[in-house]
Amino acid sequence: MTDVVVVGSGIAGLTAALHAAERGCRVTVVTKGALPDTNTRWAQGGIAAVTTADDTLESHIADTLTAGVGLNDAEAVRTLVTEGPDRIAELVRRGVCFDRSPDGDFARGLEAAHARPRVLHAGGDATGAAIQTALGAAVRSSGIVLREHTALRELVLERGRVVGIDVETEATAHRLSADAVILATGGAGQLYSHTTNPSSATGDGIAAALRAGAAVADLEFVQFHPTALAAGEPFLVSEAVRGDGAILIDDTGRRFAFDAHPDGELAPRDVVARANARAMAAQDGRPVRLDATALGADRLAQRFPTIDAAVRARGLDWSREPIPVTPAAHYLMGGVVTDLDGRTTIPGLYAVGETARTGVHGANRLASNSLLEGAVFGARAGAAAATDTGWPDVDAPTAIALPDVPAPVEVPVFSRGALQDLLWEHAGLIRDDAGLRRAAGVLAAWADLPRPRSAEDAGLLLLARHVVAAALARTGSVGAHFRSDEVSASPAAAASVPVAQEALAC
Ligand code: SIN
Repeated sequence: MTDVVVVGSGIAGLTAALHAAERGCRVTVVTKGALPDTNTRWAQGGIAAVTTADDTLESHIADTLTAGVGLNDAEAVRTLVTEGPDRIAELVRRGVCFDRSPDGDFARGLEAAHARPRVLHAGGDATGAAIQTALGAAVRSSGIVLREHTALRELVLERGRVVGIDVETEATAHRLSADAVILATGGAGQLYSHTTNPSSATGDGIAAALRAGAAVADLEFVQFHPTALAAGEPFLVSEAVRGDGAILIDDTGRRFAFDAHPDGELAPRDVVARANARAMAAQDGRPVRLDATALGADRLAQRFPTIDAAVRARGLDWSREPIPVTPAAHYLMGGVVTDLDGRTTIPGLYAVGETARTGVHGANRLASNSLLEGAVFGARAGAAAATDTGWPDVDAPTAIALPDVPAPVEVPVFSRGALQDLLWEHAGLIRDDAGLRRAAGVLAAWADLPRPRSAEDAGLLLLARHVVAAALARTGSVGAHFRSDEVSASPAAAASVPVAQEALAC
């Protein structure tokens, strides 16, 4: 019997685990928190898929490619979109109750850069929680072994093949042997001082894969969400709120998003995030505001109950006044290079969801394609892990070496917060060579220090170095990677009207 270990318990990991178990594998799911402590649980807007006759697969494919500025892997996009409807049916079968319109069809929200409403949601804005609950229950009743509060420490390799993982609990450290290991540890929002991600999003799987020598790519493409609530703890305010009609205004009450793009608040996410950042810079860093008052109290409470509660818990009434919002790190398009079945460049090792880089998102992920990615590629990796007998060559882009940059004269003391501030300032929404070089120098100096730090922090530091190296290497702006110092746009960016317009607005 094939032993499969899945690391991570969000939509990608649990889907992979279920598909492997259903093919007769002995499956163990390892997760460093409790089962539902995942990024998936916090997903609000929903899951994009073509589910009605007035929508087409070609339209969803075109929107995904446009958002990704054409740097997407076309085959990955086609796979995502065409297998999406089956995975939606599977989620329904597993107990996810997507919201329905009065005629019984799926209710469908509109989000930025989608040509039509195609975003399914559950509990209004609690889509991720509904999926997490259903998949968690399916895993618990499936005979899959669940090891909660168990953290990945290292991948174990023998003769170039992954044969297990070393893990740690509060009490012990031990080894789990496996024929296949599937990394589904999510992204690394904790690289940045402002993020919509939970504290668990520390990129553990990507860092472990890097240490084991797996290829990574596209790490310069970090997606910043335009609207995190800028009052109290950061909290995502879904793009679906703008899809429903909310607008962005500055301190003077001016609606500024159309300066950057003809689609205004519903332009691709990277464009709106930078428009917000620029508007904030022009008003001494004060947050811009999201005006949802036109939607009315009833609609806000019914359609967005989770956000409504969070907003009101902060003493704000968004049915009466615009609320302060700011961009925040949200999603990593890059990650461990995989083929379309999750295979990495190391035999026996798979990666799925935000941990993986299939190329499906190109330079910028289309809204609500991430849950879909977890479902589609999770299913494929689970099936592959159960049936693979050989290991094909997995193509990877040329590796980017860490830059040889001297440490600056003054290196701040290392802490998680100092690392997050450094990346926010120099490898955030708007980057330039000097800032990236400074960041690279500080990170290298920190890496050289023989100082004890937590395993999570060591992983973040390693990942940060690779994010900065990738951002330095890509000298042109494209998608989520914006260089204020570019001399000429890279070809994909030059073809993009939005980026050209933004440059004028700078
Ligand atoms: C949102 O609800 O705005 C986030 C959805 C996503 O990240 O795709």
